[in-house]
Amino acid sequence: MQTRHTPTGAVTDLSGRIQRDSEGRLQHLITLEGLSRDELNALLDLAQFYVRAVGDLPARDQSLAGHTVANLFFEPSTRTRVSFELAARRLGAEVVNLDMQSSSRVKGETVLDTIYTLQAMHADILVMRDAEPGLPAFVARQVAPHVCILNAGEAHLSHPTQGLLDALTIRQARPDFSQLRVLIAGDIAHSRVARSAWHALTTLGVGELRIAAPEGLMPTEGEFARAVRFSDIDAAIEGVDVIMALRIQRERIMHSQIPDEATYHRTFGITAERLRRAHPDVIVMHPGPMNRDVEIASEVADGPRSMIQRQVTNGVAVRMAVLATIVRNVQARRQF
Ligand code: CP
Repeated sequence: MQTRHTPTGAVTDLSGRIQRDSEGRLQHLITLEGLSRDELNALLDLAQFYVRAVGDLPARDQSLAGHTVANLFFEPSTRTRVSFELAARRLGAEVVNLDMQSSSRVKGETVLDTIYTLQAMHADILVMRDAEPGLPAFVARQVAPHVCILNAGEAHLSHPTQGLLDALTIRQARPDFSQLRVLIAGDIAHSRVARSAWHALTTLGVGELRIAAPEGLMPTEGEFARAVRFSDIDAAIEGVDVIMALRIQRERIMHSQIPDEATYHRTFGITAERLRRAHPDVIVMHPGPMNRDVEIASEVADGPRSMIQRQVTNGVAVRMAVLATIVRNVQARRQF
């Protein structure tokens, strides 16, 4: 079992075992690491069931009736927080959103005391985003047995629902993963999106996974096993079927030699000119928020190959699937 000590002494079980109950069912979703291809496909199938076209009424059911979801975002978010809220409401849950700036955390309350407080109010599904590596797994070990922790973004390490929505978006456009060449480009080193995408896509059997990053933004050699590494974006983009562009995570970069935005765009941005090197049917993705005309040109982001809005739509469906699955597993445990 791989473990890693966090700055606060918490320990993350990188195998993802902490997220399973004694029967092996998912109780929490901390990481995509350790999920089987069948488990990933079951989540994607259920998410697809919940997908509706924009303009149609959204899917709804009562899978979460009687449950209370609390959103605890200690880092900023638009897509993930709102889509978890919509997903939970559309499944019949009560939802509370803790405003961290006006919560008692600013008076010095610990994360655990905040969580115990919510638990005491019958919040039983806690959605967490935090900059501290290992915090979701640490919290998952402390909560009551009926409480579920869903990781909505953990430092640079893990963003499992983003990995699922990216996989769903690719699967909708290109169902045969074995034939695909996928490029993840940009600030790989600091990207939880890239790590969760890598877990999902390698487990789902993607044909070739390339990662491309400028100097200083490439992850260490021990990570992203079997991915083909490029420092030249023009070479990396040649013939690919999927491009996943990433934001520069300035909030996680202490000391770097990142060039100014114009230079970054010129040397590493996904531009219309560069796109011509990819497969003619290439799809372009970005998790958002975008730095337009830095890592991706606006004409590409808004162009015909872009799946960026579809990713957002899929995000709600994926979070509905995760919530429904976790609750179903909790209910199954209670019956024994
Ligand atoms: N992709 C993503 O996590 O976006 P938010 O930061 O807006 O949630």
